[in-house]
Amino acid sequence: MYEYDQLDELSEEQILLVKTAIQAARDAYAPYSEYHVGAALRLVNEEIVIGSNQENAAFSSGLCAERVAIFYAGARYPDVPVRSIAIAAIHKGSVQESPVTPCGACRQVLYEKELQGEEPMELILYGSKKIQVINRVTDLLPLPFTLESLS
Ligand code: THU
Repeated sequence: MYEYDQLDELSEEQILLVKTAIQAARDAYAPYSEYHVGAALRLVNEEIVIGSNQENAAFSSGLCAERVAIFYAGARYPDVPVRSIAIAAIHKGSVQESPVTPCGACRQVLYEKELQGEEPMELILYGSKKIQVINRVTDLLPLPFTLESLS
């Protein structure tokens, strides 16, 4: 894992992905938690796909930004692996200072998406005071549940 203090220390590609994630967070539907999360994926075909958290009065019906993005990418570009994901959050109007780390259920979904590709999926966890770049989802999820677990 690499840590950075400022966005301009990242590559141009990474900066664009983070800015796209922040914009996606602005459009989240999160009237209950007021915690607006945005995710931006760069696919290996260079397309960028976004997601934002979508909440619901029946709380458990909502979905995190990361899974909205990954599932949308699967629907729009089936079989195209994801090279990189950026995640950012806005809480009560301010971009979060600390990096946003995906929940356990999202790690599981990100992990299976990573397996679709030959290369690992990079994670850019954005915070306005600290940015963490993690090389592969596998680093966030030891002992994952996999297809082999079902056999
Ligand atoms: N949330 C995400 O979208 N991604 C995360 O990584 C953490 C949490 C959402 C779920 C819920 O809508 C709100 O943030 C508060 O938990």
